[in-house]
Amino acid sequence: MRATLIAGNWKMNGSLASNAGLLDDVRAGSGASRAQLAVCVPAPYLAQAQAALTGSAVAWGAQDLSVHDSGAYTGEVSAAMLGDFDCTYVIVGHSERRSYHGESDELVAQKTARALAARLVPIVCVGETLAEREQGATEAVVVRQLKPVLDAVGSDLAKIVVAYEPVWAIGTGKTATPEMAQQVHELIRATLAQRDAAAAQQVQILYGGSMKPDNAKDLLAMPDIDGGLIGGASLKAADFLAIAHAA
Ligand code: 13P
Repeated sequence: MRATLIAGNWKMNGSLASNAGLLDDVRAGSGASRAQLAVCVPAPYLAQAQAALTGSAVAWGAQDLSVHDSGAYTGEVSAAMLGDFDCTYVIVGHSERRSYHGESDELVAQKTARALAARLVPIVCVGETLAEREQGATEAVVVRQLKPVLDAVGSDLAKIVVAYEPVWAIGTGKTATPEMAQQVHELIRATLAQRDAAAAQQVQILYGGSMKPDNAKDLLAMPDIDGGLIGGASLKAADFLAIAHAA
């Protein structure tokens, strides 16, 4: 039986002052949740998340990492640096990084391997754009995005988390129906199973894209939806916890 994981992706939001209340409220409300909880915060706030959440049921992590270990890579943050702040998770290949920073499927795969080598759990994001869905290319896009990741992780497949985030549902208020999401989650699990059937059963596959308290229950009831990667609704403790409680 896979545990449910509800992970917040704060994106580029927050401040020292506003984060304090949010972290405290999430920590305080986490006891009532049967789901695993995590928040992926902007890198400058990792120390704050670590201080606020150490000893709680809420894990924390980052939103990206460098493919390099160290050196002349201005602005980059390495896997080891994330380890210094006791991160459990790191998001890899979010569609905003693929589209605004030109991250290729191969780079995302390399970052996934870097995260694993540093004992971080990569949350690997895949998903199609609206144009790709309308062309009937959803399956091809998701399989293309997964392939280099599967090549890179090898026997560590069971250690990754996958997030299916249809780009057209991110921040738009348009959610995939539970059935639409389940179809792609099933495809993702089948694709993983072609490499390692046992590991594929263990991998948590999260849904992301306008998941809110009012639609979380139906999405999370689907057999291959093992949690959520929550953007906007993770910035309000009450909404984030309500999603966790729906699990
Ligand atoms: P929203 O929940 O704001 O649609 O964002 C989803 C997302 O991109 C999480 O990584």
